[in-house]
Amino acid sequence: MSARLQAPRGTFDVLPADAARREEVEAAARRILGGAGYARIETPTFEATELFARGVGEATDIVQKEMYTFDDGGGRSLTLRPEGTAPVCRAYLEHGMQKLPQPVRLWYLSSFFRRERAQAGRYRQFWQVGAEGIGSDDPALDAEAILLLADLLDALGVRGLRLRLGSLGRAETRAAYREELTSYLRAHEEELSEEVRARIALNPLRAFDAEHPGTRRVMEAAPRLLDALGEEDRAHFAEVRALLDDAGQPYEVDPTLVRGLDYYTRTLFEFTSDALGAQSGVAGGGRYDGLIAELGGPPTPGCGWAAGIERILLAAGERPAAVPPVDLFVAVAEPECGRPAFRVVSEARRAGLSAQRELAGRSLKGQLKHADRLGARYVAILGEEGAQVKDMESGEQVEASPEDVVARVLRGRRADR
Ligand code: HAM
Repeated sequence: MSARLQAPRGTFDVLPADAARREEVEAAARRILGGAGYARIETPTFEATELFARGVGEATDIVQKEMYTFDDGGGRSLTLRPEGTAPVCRAYLEHGMQKLPQPVRLWYLSSFFRRERAQAGRYRQFWQVGAEGIGSDDPALDAEAILLLADLLDALGVRGLRLRLGSLGRAETRAAYREELTSYLRAHEEELSEEVRARIALNPLRAFDAEHPGTRRVMEAAPRLLDALGEEDRAHFAEVRALLDDAGQPYEVDPTLVRGLDYYTRTLFEFTSDALGAQSGVAGGGRYDGLIAELGGPPTPGCGWAAGIERILLAAGERPAAVPPVDLFVAVAEPECGRPAFRVVSEARRAGLSAQRELAGRSLKGQLKHADRLGARYVAILGEEGAQVKDMESGEQVEASPEDVVARVLRGRRADR
């Protein structure tokens, strides 16, 4: 016997029992984001590697060690998308969306790929729902994005939410701060973890993320970017906060908030949930005013977020999913009635009913039990002498010819409403 194959590590199957909850996520996103003027977009599963190297940033963990990159056989380097913002900005430019009324608001629900250490809530193929607003630097776009995300997480029953908010300022402020932080880290090199020390030049900001006790002590007294913001960036951040305050959205300003992507400027945010373990980040995002120029477009501001669907479902806990109704189950009293049963089911489906029939060779008793398990509203029993239609709610049973079954069920369904 051949060895049984399994799904690759860090991936999972979405089984029918899980699909209903995921459809709820999609329906809520469509309702909440669609209602705010966001339109659906889907980009390809793979892109030119350079898009992420330039967009997400060469120095990030994602680009350095987590991308699934391959040669397509024609000498081109392609990468399975690790995130959605760079691809959406690429599509915005490629399709001339800067000519549309701005900002252009887009949302997506797609799968993404990162070669991370797999554990609960962290996978190598995972799903995100995301939203991007491109073409406006108005702080109201930032606040709107955050509030829509909060509404979505709330509608899906995510528990124990906490919102952390920060601001990185513009690219020049960030560059000057980076130098200041680098010299500070160099001055305390002895006390830092080896990993942080090795990455001082590459990504000094990541030191704020470290668990290592010595590094944490050093970082407590480290210069803070929030204190180095220029006048305009400070005012922008104050306005985002004022709009969130007006809307009654709780948040904590966290001057040490860092995210694993390099495109952020100004506003930065993350929702975490106490209901999750180590992987507590449910959603995150921010403003990326330099990204489109980095991808070769005209300077164009933007702001958005993405939420992990598996983490939303984990943090929302078990919630009963709605079972799709079955209007009609067609049972057969004799095996010879297979063909008429097939005809009745096809006719019922064409008439817009949800219909199923026996295909497993069960006894009549077994079929009726199965129809009951499915929650069928009506059962038609086809025999050599015609058909019986049983109303499963009242228990009432009437004779009918097989040709009349669908009309009877339709009449019954109308009376139900
Ligand atoms: P991100 O923080 O890398 O941001 O990912 C957003 C969310 O995706 C995380 O909060 C988490 O819920 C989920 N996620 C990330 N990696 C994994 C994983 N390996 N397994 C399961 N879930 C995961 C972004 O991707 C940005 N593109 C967000 C954004 C949009 N910023 C601006 N616009």
